[in-house]
Amino acid sequence: MGKYLITGGAGFIGSTLANHLAKENTVIVIDDLSMGKKENLIENSKLSFIEGSVTDKELMSEVLSSHRFDYIFHFAAIASVADSVERPVETHQINFESVLMLLELIRKHQKDLKRLVFSSSAAVYGDEPTLPKREESIIRPLTPYAVDKFAAEQYVLDYQHLYGINTSAVRFFNVYGPNQNPESPYSGVISILVDRYKRLQAGSAAQFTLFGDGSQSRDFVFIEDVIQALLLVAGKEEALGKQYNVGTGNAITLTELIEVIDEALEIKLPVKYETGREGDIKDSVADISRLQGLGYRSNYSVQAGMKKYLVSENLI
Ligand code: UD1
Repeated sequence: MGKYLITGGAGFIGSTLANHLAKENTVIVIDDLSMGKKENLIENSKLSFIEGSVTDKELMSEVLSSHRFDYIFHFAAIASVADSVERPVETHQINFESVLMLLELIRKHQKDLKRLVFSSSAAVYGDEPTLPKREESIIRPLTPYAVDKFAAEQYVLDYQHLYGINTSAVRFFNVYGPNQNPESPYSGVISILVDRYKRLQAGSAAQFTLFGDGSQSRDFVFIEDVIQALLLVAGKEEALGKQYNVGTGNAITLTELIEVIDEALEIKLPVKYETGREGDIKDSVADISRLQGLGYRSNYSVQAGMKKYLVSENLI
């Protein structure tokens, strides 16, 4: 039993965690519903929802000064690399400034906080070619998104060392699963793909725009593995002041991924090729040994995770 604050808690990762935690804990969710949806959250008397932005200082001060939290998960962000290249100032406010403000509010009001978990990103590694990425690998952020995630992550971990605030960070690789919003052109690629397959199965014309030649690779990690990782990082003493890669340890190219889904659904998705996106990373795969040291096991290959996802969407 504990009290949790989840920012971005109506979004894909945040809502999955909120629904899981609200079975036994008190959970407060803050979300501006820019990408998240209230319907992602289950009806539960232990779960309350506040509509608002983490950049709203008054709102955040009010929330942080009027509750005593055991755990805070900060997921609120503009999650798209490509969007940050289009809108560096707006994305900086959300992806960086809100974090610093939250840290200061925690310093002031949340002396008993057991853990702040910050959602950083594999994007911080950039295009330095050595693979797999270890937490100590060279950092070469290529985009405003990656720079902000890295800077925010370092602030979060520094607050542990400087002020004794209990913090940890996770570097998400490419998370996918039910409730990931496909509606923006900047949505995660698997959510967009599933949306296109849905339309195709329903008999509509649908095609997928692939930026690049399809040989870029990603470590796609299923949401259930991610929840396991988040609970371990938040709960383990040894995770204090550290960052953890969250992935499966295996990568697949976009072309291979499309083949996997084509085969699972016995349908061929039409693909249109366009020039690669600015700042896009070629290859990304996690070394997950640090997380495994906390007891983590990745239970879903991309084939297994995709199958479960497609079944939950009634596509299989
Ligand atoms: C993703 C996450 C980011 C996370 C990072 C960690 C999203 C939106 N982005 O970034 O939050 O921090 O992983 O590694 O969830 N693509 C297409 N067509 C499309 C969309 C994408 O070809 O319609 C391509 C992209 O150009 C890219 C690949 O698919 O090469 C993956 O793109 P995307 O899902 O946006 O993820 P990342 O940029 O890896």
